[in-house]
Amino acid sequence: MSVKPTKQKPGEPPTTGHSWDGIEEYDNPMPRWWLWTFYVTIIWAIGYSILYPAWPLVNDATKGLLGQSTRADVAAEIQAYADANAEIRTRLVETELTEIAANPDLVQYATNAGAAVFRTNCVQCHGSGAAGVQGQGYPNLLDDDWIWGGDIESIHTTVTHGIRNTTDDNARYSEMPRFGADGLLDDTQLSQVVEYVLQISGQEHDAALATEGATVFLDNCAACHGDDGTGSRDVGAPNLTDAIWLYGGSRETITESVTYARFGVMPNWNNRLSEADIRSVAIYVHGLGGGE
Ligand code: HEC
Ligand code: HEC
Repeated sequence: MSVKPTKQKPGEPPTTGHSWDGIEEYDNPMPRWWLWTFYVTIIWAIGYSILYPAWPLVNDATKGLLGQSTRADVAAEIQAYADANAEIRTRLVETELTEIAANPDLVQYATNAGAAVFRTNCVQCHGSGAAGVQGQGYPNLLDDDWIWGGDIESIHTTVTHGIRNTTDDNARYSEMPRFGADGLLDDTQLSQVVEYVLQISGQEHDAALATEGATVFLDNCAACHGDDGTGSRDVGAPNLTDAIWLYGGSRETITESVTYARFGVMPNWNNRLSEADIRSVAIYVHGLGGGE
């Protein structure tokens, strides 16, 4: 409730004239320092919005007299980075693949750049540590077991054109027949050859079936996997005698591989990465430990 303000005593500042439950308010002016700071911020804000991008418009914003743009800054930084590396990237592309190893500065640049390319483009299939994905057909790139070859030229070809894709006519290609699903082998022959694969990979197996399986293997599989089962890089047929499996080495998984066959696909990179990036990532992969 507002009541009549009390009389002002001599020497006291005037009150605002309001009273709430007997509490009155002095009518003091704003402190000078506060007022001036306030005016300065207003002037600052006007100056800022004239000089810098400030007011949002329908599609864009006011540009500001200074033309400053964080986007342009980033673009300039990227350009500066590209310019700084232009010389070494040109050399990387112009040097014979097999001679790059003799140039420590090229190797160093390519390994760093290649690691970045790998992180962006390859980890989703080959794993962040390049160890592949067990049992899903994504090979480990750290070991010295190569399906298509582990020297720098082979790796470069694999990365450039990819494997069994439909987007590059030069992709590495081969197709294992679907021995079970297409009736090329009957169930007996299937189980015989599976026992034989278990035998040559040093696993527990049925010796009698495996002996029969050896013949089935020579007749049907050796053309691609080799007489001794160690595989062939010409057709990307994996070594079946080691403990390294693309899809798995258990009886069930081998049976599945032989019945339905597999068809591992890797995209080609020549339409997505520059030659310098492809060479970098090939050198990075080659240097991971298994390079030949
Ligand atoms: C979409 C999944 C996928 C991506 C992405 C991918 N790969 Fe592959 N990669 C595969 C598959 C599947 C194979 C094995 C194909 C086969 O069975 O022969 C393979 C095989 C390879 C091989 C051959 C290995 C050998 O033993 O001969 C190399 C080298 C390779 N990849 C490198 C790369 C690099 C480098 C990148 C990134 C630029 C990459 N891959 C991205 C799926 C992928
Ligand atoms: C035309 C060539 C070809 C023939 C013939 C062939 N294979 Fe294969 N085999 C391949 C290729 C290529 C792969 C790899 C497939 C992939 O990565 O998609 C493969 C994969 C496999 C795998 C999976 C290996 C792993 O690491 O998981 C097994 C097991 C296998 N073959 C067994 C056989 C058996 C047994 C026969 C004979 C009955 C046979 N293959 C005949 C080409 C062939």
